[in-house]
Amino acid sequence: MRTALYPGTFDPVTRGHLDIMERALRLFDNLIVAVAVHPEKQPLFTVEERVEMIRGEIEQWKNIQVESFHGLLTEYARQKGALSIIRGLRAVSDFEYEFQMALTNRSLNSDIETVFLMPSEQFTYLNSTIVKEIAMLGGNVSQFVPQGVEKRLRGKYPR
Ligand code: COA
Repeated sequence: MRTALYPGTFDPVTRGHLDIMERALRLFDNLIVAVAVHPEKQPLFTVEERVEMIRGEIEQWKNIQVESFHGLLTEYARQKGALSIIRGLRAVSDFEYEFQMALTNRSLNSDIETVFLMPSEQFTYLNSTIVKEIAMLGGNVSQFVPQGVEKRLRGKYPR
């Protein structure tokens, strides 16, 4: 069984992330969505909330698990028996950071390959920071995030 790991902060998960998960499932038998604790990013949502939000959106897919992790990604991948790391590549601006991360991860564990997937073009400009900013300012984020996430954002930024 081919297992891939899709790591990220997911603060919060967006339709763009879900698009990448769907594409990854066409290539792999099993996908582990790995939510990075990432305290230095000072996330809006706790790691438990981020995991719950993703779980709420993937019920239709039986071959995805959502877990949190801290520490080195390559070490976590080794523990999980995953030889592929999925990353979304949205625009050229993503490339330098992703290139650095993929090669660093390869130097830490040469068995692991990073697989880049492109989201649907409607999500290429999207990131979680933009979504949070729109929600904070009272804008409508329904085209960017699923309903459950939109509700949680309203809870964080009541009008
Ligand atoms: N659609 C919409 N947005 C997307 C997206 C997509 N398909 N793919 C990425 N993004 C956004 C994210 O929402 C995030 O937005 P933000 O910066 O506004 O919050 C941004 O792009 C990048 O975030 P993400 O994909 O979550 O990656 P990250 O840079 O936050 O996390 C880790 C990267 C967790 C994979 C990395 O830090 C890591 O591996 N950490 C573990 C420690 C380690 O091993 N370090 C050495 C690695 S070289």
